Amino acid sequence: MAEKQVKIGIIGAGNIAPAHIKAFGGYPERCKVVAICDIVAELAEKRAEEYQLTSYTDYKEMIEKESLDAVCIATPPAAHKSVALDVLTMGCNILCEKPLAMTVEDGRAMADAAGKADVLFMVAFCHRFEQAIVKIKDSVSSGQFGPITSYRNVFANAAGHRPTRGGNLMDNGSHAVDIARYIMGDPMKVLAAQFRPKKVDDLDKVIDFSALLEGPNGEMVYIEAGGRHAGGRAVVEVCGEKTSALYDYFSANTMKWNDGEKWEDIELSEGGKRFFKQAKHFLDCLQNDEKCITDVFEALKTLELLEQIAKVANS
Ligand SMILES: NC(=O)c1ccc[n+]([C@@H]2O[C@H](COP(=O)([O-])OP(=O)(O)OC[C@H]3O[C@@H](n4cnc5c(N)ncnc54)[C@H](O)[C@@H]3O)[C@@H](O)[C@H]2O)c1
Repeated sequence: MAEKQVKIGIIGAGNIAPAHIKAFGGYPERCKVVAICDIVAELAEKRAEEYQLTSYTDYKEMIEKESLDAVCIATPPAAHKSVALDVLTMGCNILCEKPLAMTVEDGRAMADAAGKADVLFMVAFCHRFEQAIVKIKDSVSSGQFGPITSYRNVFANAAGHRPTRGGNLMDNGSHAVDIARYIMGDPMKVLAAQFRPKKVDDLDKVIDFSALLEGPNGEMVYIEAGGRHAGGRAVVEVCGEKTSALYDYFSANTMKWNDGEKWEDIELSEGGKRFFKQAKHFLDCLQNDEKCITDVFEALKTLELLEQIAKVANS
């Protein structure tokens, strides 16, 4: 698809849809979002009017009529599987919102189908494209941190956040688990995990979760996501024997860095631009054959770890 402008449709016209439309809009020579679909006609029409798109209520009709090259699946997680399986049979490329699915069983069915289809199936773990996270990941991989002593990540929404997108293990927690895997590597062992409410029969009901994991070299890894924290907090902190770093998403344009001597503030010229970088990676994979760093198979590994955390928390 090297020279061709990629024609994209959005499936699901809810909260996150505008972020993807704007992100792809950052690359007008390479792609164009032309249509949007939602089972709620008024929602699709409202977004279509806002962004000059054609609206649909049936994504199969949208893919066919618009001759789409790719879709962005932005429905709630429970609908990802059925939508993705349909889209795969139509031979269309996919950027699917996280988490891949609500169960490993569903995720596996999606990965199996993707393995047989000749299309790109990327999952939108956008934090892998956040400048500070990329810097930490690259520096950890190159050995600049030395042995890691501890890793902590808290994604906590301020009180009042509605954990409706699959509960907070699957919503912000899926990001937390994915970033931990991305930076620290596999395998991760779940040492302890806790939910609030204490036990749930349905992950949709998880309001808060925390987990203590052991990284591949015995590192202490703590992650937490929740919906009822006082002021909201979104922080990734990695300490190594040689270097340590702290990124606070609430000050997206700087991060704290310590090379063993002193703490300093590092300016980030592209802080907070993760959706644009994610869209660029999707296009690079489609048009320049770049290897996808967050494909369906990688997302399935994150889903497997999420399921292990749920098992321990519910035990
Ligand atoms: N990466 C991030 O930072 C981030 C942030 C928010 C949401 N998300 C993810 O994006 C996805 C959507 O979240 P949201 O907050 O936008 O949800 P939302 O409920 O606001 O919107 C989802 C929309 O999908 C529509 N829909 C459901 N089934 C459909 C179908 N079969 N065909 C067409 N439309 C359908 C619904 O009617 C709804 O309007 C979730 O997977 C969520 O985890 C990611």
